[in-house]
Amino acid sequence: MKKNKIISIAAFLFTVAFLISCVQKDPSVQDVKSPDGLNKITFAVEQGDIYYSVTHKGKEIIAPSKLGFVFKDGSVLGKKMKIENISRNSYNETWEQPWGEKRLIENRYEEMTVNLSSGNGQKYYMNIVFRAFNDGIAFRYEIPEQELIDSFIITDELTQFALPTIDNAWWIPAYKGVYYENITQYTPVNLIDTASCPFTIKTLNGKYLTIHEANLTDYAAMNLYCTGESTLNCDLTPWSTGEKVFAKAPIKSPWRMVMIADKPGELITSYLELNLNEPCAIDDISWIEPCRYIGIWWGMHMGKYTWHMGPNHGATTENTMRYIDFAAEHGFKGVLVEGWNKGWENDWTKEGDKFSFIEPYPDFDIEKITGYASSKGVKLIGHHETGGATKNYENQLEDAFALYQKLGVNSVKTGYVSPLLDGKERHSSQYGVRHMRKVIETAAKYHITIDNHEPVMPTGLRRTYPNLMTGEGMRGQEYNAWSQDGGNPVNHTCIIPFTRGLAGPMDYTPGVFNFDNPVNPGTKVKTTLAHQLALYVVFFSPLQMACDLPENYEGNPALKFIEQVPVNWDITKVPDAEIGKYVYIVRKDRDSKDWYLGCITNEMPRETNINLGFLEKDKIYSAEIYRDGDNAHWETNPTSVSIEKITVTANDYLPVKLAPGGGIAVRFTPE
Ligand code: NOJ
Repeated sequence: MKKNKIISIAAFLFTVAFLISCVQKDPSVQDVKSPDGLNKITFAVEQGDIYYSVTHKGKEIIAPSKLGFVFKDGSVLGKKMKIENISRNSYNETWEQPWGEKRLIENRYEEMTVNLSSGNGQKYYMNIVFRAFNDGIAFRYEIPEQELIDSFIITDELTQFALPTIDNAWWIPAYKGVYYENITQYTPVNLIDTASCPFTIKTLNGKYLTIHEANLTDYAAMNLYCTGESTLNCDLTPWSTGEKVFAKAPIKSPWRMVMIADKPGELITSYLELNLNEPCAIDDISWIEPCRYIGIWWGMHMGKYTWHMGPNHGATTENTMRYIDFAAEHGFKGVLVEGWNKGWENDWTKEGDKFSFIEPYPDFDIEKITGYASSKGVKLIGHHETGGATKNYENQLEDAFALYQKLGVNSVKTGYVSPLLDGKERHSSQYGVRHMRKVIETAAKYHITIDNHEPVMPTGLRRTYPNLMTGEGMRGQEYNAWSQDGGNPVNHTCIIPFTRGLAGPMDYTPGVFNFDNPVNPGTKVKTTLAHQLALYVVFFSPLQMACDLPENYEGNPALKFIEQVPVNWDITKVPDAEIGKYVYIVRKDRDSKDWYLGCITNEMPRETNINLGFLEKDKIYSAEIYRDGDNAHWETNPTSVSIEKITVTANDYLPVKLAPGGGIAVRFTPE
């Protein structure tokens, strides 16, 4: 009996091995493995339908998932297909980021291009390029120039990401709410609404996946919806008329990418998205400068100032000069000024088309201000709130950037506050994508960098256009000023580095020192002050704001940390993190030998000993520590912070005690 069982197991194993070897030889099944061999993409044609699947360390990560398109004439590119040719390529380079969270980026992958055709006689052609990286996988479609396809309209992209199990995901809805400014939900994937990307998943076997797209060019953004138990499907943001993408062959779709990680921190240190974008397209980038900035901004959100001219106008010549003085004194290189231009007196969320980007209010002497700023080594950061009226903006774009360039302004914050662009089209539609690209390219012509609020979700274009420096696309700090739901939840800052933050730099605007909210007492910043400081290390942004009012910083010794913390890094490491619970990041300054540590927690207090092994061996460091005071608590005592200086080496452990909603920020300087 026992013997029979052994024989039948052996026979079964033999059959499986045989089938596997047949599958391997079947020319309609092709695979490509990452350089370390751990991630494998398999492409298969089955009865003319095309599929891909992914394994990681031999375990299925993405089950067989459909590929292809539906066109407006009802035809499907992805059915009755056959492989015409397979080509393979290995790639290995290290490139340098002009600014970023890491200077040198390794771009290493194995590539497989599948040339497909359908039809007899006259044929339709499509290629799919697959890339297997050590930190994930990606693929994109190419519709080459061909006789039968010229101009075409995509009404659906059939791409799927079929998860083998009903995993949990952190997600925000794509069509409810505006500008990705939602509180993240964490649910099983079969309970999601149509969700935006990046979409981060914790699999039942403990892996972390992030589905996103890279190099979104003249196409619609990808969202995801779930069918069956756990199959995620691509949903492209439509035009108001329902079509998704208007195109003309040849086209390349954005990359569809899946980051694959054993630990959440590995998602943050993956540069897959950047590697899938084209190298820098701007010849001279010497004018692109990361910087810390303050601004006439929080005052409007807290109801102290108005954007429009009047008795409480924030952007007056006098007030701006006061901000410039404060910036010069405390080492901030930029001063953002909102409400400087005509148009705010209208209901600008409804009538954004009345904005002028050329005419300052009479109480804002732009020439005097920019001259004064330059005499103090400070630059004005310009502001273009469009109210979503992109046509009005495009009509003034060249003149508006030329004006700023003439006055020495080389950064502009753009904004699109209106649920629809030009009253009609969604921000993440092909219409919005085209507009945002036009702004980035025009800005580059005038040597202007962009901080894009109400953006299309970033997809790594900063590699090609490093003047696209930062952006919003999340519930930023401003929600803690006026949001009627009380502000951002305590765990918010422990989640977004693993969702929105994976798409690109975040202009979250940290740095609140005054936690009172006289206008909306029910709304508050739900962190401690030390947590606000730690955000300068945890959140990466090459334009990084200190959002609070100068009068709230004046005299507070904790400001020193913000004055010193860099915005441009050589190395980034994430020694430990749990999404939504705590994040601990260390980064090395790009311009010195200093290291910085930022650690934040959600509503739970935490105690731990941090291993300082990331510091250089055989060096003694002076550590300036900004930690939660003994009774600090986000709700009852947020401002309590204790500052101390000690000496440490790479062999030491730093004892850390985080208050509820608390944090710790440390600067390590070699002695
Ligand atoms: C929304 C932006 O996020 C905010 O930073 C800005 O102050 C307002 N729009 C006005 O442009």
